[in-house]
Amino acid sequence: MEKIETRDKIPGPKARRIIDTMKKHAYDSTFMYSLVVSHGHNCIIEDVDGNKYLDFTSNIGACPLGYSHPDIIEILAAYSSNGTYKIAGQDFYCQEHADLAENISAILPAGFKTFFINSGAEAVENAIKIAYRKKGPLPGISCTGAFHGRTLGALSFTHSRPVQKYNFPEFPSKRIKFCIKDDDVEIDAAENLLKENKIAFILTEIIQGEGGYNVASKKFISNLRKFATKYGVPLILDEVQSGIGHTGKWWAFEHYGIKPDIMSTAKALQIGATAYDKKFDPGQRSVLSSTWGGGNRIDMAVGSRVIEVIKRDKLLDNATKMGNMLRKGLTEMTGKKGVVDVRGLGLMVGVEFDTTLHRDKKLTELFKHGLLTLGAGQKSMRIIPPLIITREQIHEGLEIMHQVLMKS
Ligand SMILES: Cc1ncc(COP(=O)(O)O)c(C=O)c1O
Repeated sequence: MEKIETRDKIPGPKARRIIDTMKKHAYDSTFMYSLVVSHGHNCIIEDVDGNKYLDFTSNIGACPLGYSHPDIIEILAAYSSNGTYKIAGQDFYCQEHADLAENISAILPAGFKTFFINSGAEAVENAIKIAYRKKGPLPGISCTGAFHGRTLGALSFTHSRPVQKYNFPEFPSKRIKFCIKDDDVEIDAAENLLKENKIAFILTEIIQGEGGYNVASKKFISNLRKFATKYGVPLILDEVQSGIGHTGKWWAFEHYGIKPDIMSTAKALQIGATAYDKKFDPGQRSVLSSTWGGGNRIDMAVGSRVIEVIKRDKLLDNATKMGNMLRKGLTEMTGKKGVVDVRGLGLMVGVEFDTTLHRDKKLTELFKHGLLTLGAGQKSMRIIPPLIITREQIHEGLEIMHQVLMKS
């Protein structure tokens, strides 16, 4: 198996040149540290200078089978001479679209249909549009700390960091507290808003991704389900980050014994998807569409294979077991050296630090020690390894964490 291997100078000379070109010609977006990806095997990513890193990010959950997985390589090879790998997928039919729709139906609540689109934000946008078709352009309810994407519609319901929203126009929205404790005094706040009968939908994550891997309280989610039904508004669950297995179940909502009316997913699926209970079907053609939506045949074939491999190799069980091991190891560091909290579901694990500065410093140090992690929320680190991660790799990652986090 490939091993972590870092040289003295990170970034190396090739990485430095690429980063310089980026800084000169490209928008300086949300780059975390100076990783310039070359290729990868299993859970190891190699950079352009030959440094090898253990990946505890899976590219924010988007690479659930790690890198160069034989099943995925087989698909990529099969398309190497197919010149129609990308088609106008909501205008022309293809086998991959039918296969993915069928495969995702098998893991969705019974009676759900799916619309495929390019990104997570667009999956949320289309979920919102489906809700508006029934209720009109009334405000939607979303939560403090929520992240639903950066397109303007989805952004209106995002409340993660001010920099993401400043000066952008907004759809009407009402904000409630994302409650992580059953005894939170604001646990019923949605009902007061719904009573006025002027709400189009409730939109929330179950485990906030960008917000810092905050796990919703059981009562909070069951209340939202109850209120949505009582007041006749759809409950939209955003599973863009948590969906397709990272919590140890196909969907995070399964941990709560409830079902959404409409939902969004993306990342691990390789493409965006809006799924909805048939009773919310727009009921008319052309309401939703997009040139590439449902048209990237490779991504859809990979998405189908991801679902098959997760089932075949029992990767949901692996996510649960490895997640427990990871949380246990990290919990032993809690309360020491500015590590304030460890939380999560399955292989989505958040570590909260005392300050943003401290978190950022540790992220960079971990990177330099050959371990990739990401920031989330104000002061948290997020860990979301590929679902194929092994016991040995969890141990190796924990060892590096211990070395880096427990030193002053
Ligand atoms: C919960 C959630 N919703 C929506 C999005 C937006 O997805 P994308 O970046 O693919 O547009 C993200 C991205 O991180 C997310 O975590």
